[in-house]
Amino acid sequence: MKAIVYTKYGPPDVLQLKEVERPTPKENEVLVKIHAASLNAYDWHLLTADIFLVRLMGGGLLKPKNTLLGADIAGRVEVVGRNVKQFRPGDEVFGDIAAWGNGGFAEYVSVPENALALKPANLSFEEAAAVPMAAVTALQGLRDQGQIQPGQKVLINGASGGVGTFALQIAKSFGAEVTAVCSTRNLDTARSLGADHVIDYTQEDFTQNGQQYNLILAVNGYHPISAYKRALTPQGIYVMAGGSTTQIFQAMLLGPWMSKNGGKKMGNVSAKQNQKDLVFMKELLEAGKVVPVIDRRYPLSETAEAFRYLGEGHARGKVVISIN
Ligand SMILES: NC(=O)c1ccc[n+]([C@@H]2O[C@H](COP(=O)([O-])OP(=O)(O)OC[C@H]3O[C@@H](n4cnc5c(N)ncnc54)[C@H](OP(=O)(O)O)[C@@H]3O)[C@@H](O)[C@H]2O)c1
Repeated sequence: MKAIVYTKYGPPDVLQLKEVERPTPKENEVLVKIHAASLNAYDWHLLTADIFLVRLMGGGLLKPKNTLLGADIAGRVEVVGRNVKQFRPGDEVFGDIAAWGNGGFAEYVSVPENALALKPANLSFEEAAAVPMAAVTALQGLRDQGQIQPGQKVLINGASGGVGTFALQIAKSFGAEVTAVCSTRNLDTARSLGADHVIDYTQEDFTQNGQQYNLILAVNGYHPISAYKRALTPQGIYVMAGGSTTQIFQAMLLGPWMSKNGGKKMGNVSAKQNQKDLVFMKELLEAGKVVPVIDRRYPLSETAEAFRYLGEGHARGKVVISIN
């Protein structure tokens, strides 16, 4: 089968389209013919090892241990192992396979059945592949860490990228009053996705305007953690999902200490793939409450080009690879 392979860390130029052996499903596994995959910042970190932790946390110190990339997939079940209970050949599925060794930028992958859920019936393969990692991160950040409630004032900083476009819509589906922070060119998209208020970060610093929010999800960009704290109501919650390295380290190192005295909570989300949340997203998508936003689509042979675009840091929604 064809797959995107990398044998050294580096820029997208190190990605090669190669013939590799097609996987054979084990007893509890499902062989999926992949129709589409999507890119995440996670793939970028594995490719470039721009964060040194990637090398320490199993990526391989000098070169990648696992030569395949691609976490988010959508496709059709081709073969099932004999202990598989939930799926049959022909089923259309989607999922995040990061915990099972990646390999989404390829024609086939074999993964345990609990990595997958049935694809939302109203979505194309491309749309479904855009969902898993970004949407589940947004869901777990808002619902589990953020304890989102109807009527709350929720601000999403970085509302126009992969995670942000889902976060905005998921927060609306929980009945929140949502403020989306993005740049000028994305204000209309944010409004069309349901934002009640939009703030153009090139014109206004939301941490300086005196407004306070019950929940802030920080997805992109940077503000000092003290500024985020100032923009929270007295019992407000801050959840860092991503953004600049400084933003990430401040939340992880200073957050627990700043939350010690009760009142405002300064935390972060580290998303954990699970089938229940994938099914939760499937239901929101089928109900039309959330719509995947796809910026660009590339064929498998142009995966490197797709990474170059993602690496610029200004994707509007998701970048998708169409396969088969
Ligand atoms: N915690 C977790 O488990 C988890 C899971 C997935 C992702 N993440 C992290 O979440 C972050 C976002 O991921 P993503 O997939 O959404 O990335 P992405 O799609 O690449 O984000 C691109 C978007 O970010 C916006 N942006 C850039 N600079 C900004 C700024 N200063 N302020 C506000 N928005 C800005 C861009 O809009 P403009 O063009 O308008 O600037 C663009 O729409 C990454 O750091 C990623 O590592 C964390």
